[in-house]
Amino acid sequence: MLELEIFDLKLNTNTIGRSFIYCDELDSTNTFLLDKKNKINTDGSVVFAERQARGRGRKDRVWYSTKEQNLNFSILITNKKFFGKNFNIINFAASLAVAQAIENLYQINTNLKWPNDVLIQGKKVCGILLEASSQGSKIERLVIGIGVNVNQISFQGSFNIEPTSIKLEANENIEREKLLAEILNLFEELLEKILVKPEDILRDWKTKCRMLGEKIAITDGETTKYGIFDDLDENGFLLLKNKGNIEKIHFGDVSVV
Ligand code: BTN
Repeated sequence: MLELEIFDLKLNTNTIGRSFIYCDELDSTNTFLLDKKNKINTDGSVVFAERQARGRGRKDRVWYSTKEQNLNFSILITNKKFFGKNFNIINFAASLAVAQAIENLYQINTNLKWPNDVLIQGKKVCGILLEASSQGSKIERLVIGIGVNVNQISFQGSFNIEPTSIKLEANENIEREKLLAEILNLFEELLEKILVKPEDILRDWKTKCRMLGEKIAITDGETTKYGIFDDLDENGFLLLKNKGNIEKIHFGDVSVV
């Protein structure tokens, strides 16, 4: 059970998380916020679930999380000023917020994997799923779903990247309320920065990505491409260098080869 009073005391935002919906169980916090029938329309609303029956990851993967151990939440953005921005940058802002929160509170080094995983010692501690719903060609709502492995200490199943949790890496029990508030505080700051200095978000993201300059493989479905992770373009797409040619990559799972 999340202690909402503690969370409230630590939350220092104007918009993000000021409307907070706490649920024992949902199918998926992303699905809930994307569905207009649930009548959550306030910009910056956060929906949190102690358990998700159908937690979703990127590429239709399942997101597993043990009840009451972790952070599973989604943030709703309805303010249109963010809709013109490339979603990669919003993804980067979210992953940077999680990485910086972990570093600030527990002095653990984190790094980032394109497009939006947060890693500790090469193991995945957080996944992010950004989704949008639209009416015709107009985006209506943007939902940023964040799953952080916090106090879970064992993981069953097969994973694309080995999972870990903050507790496993810090050797201490983690106060979820404080971590959640810190993530939202930092995310609000970074979101505002997207509008004025998106290049700073890209720069900070790149300094935390160990794969830049490495030989990588990018897999998307049946297709795998190889090359050097040369850079990101101004929209956050990956630039893959192969035999002097640069190819812009929009999707895929990256691994160092
Ligand atoms: C990934 O790494 O593939 C993304 C995982 C995203 C999981 C979070 S948990 C909260 C939100 N609700 C979901 O169903 N998924 C996201």
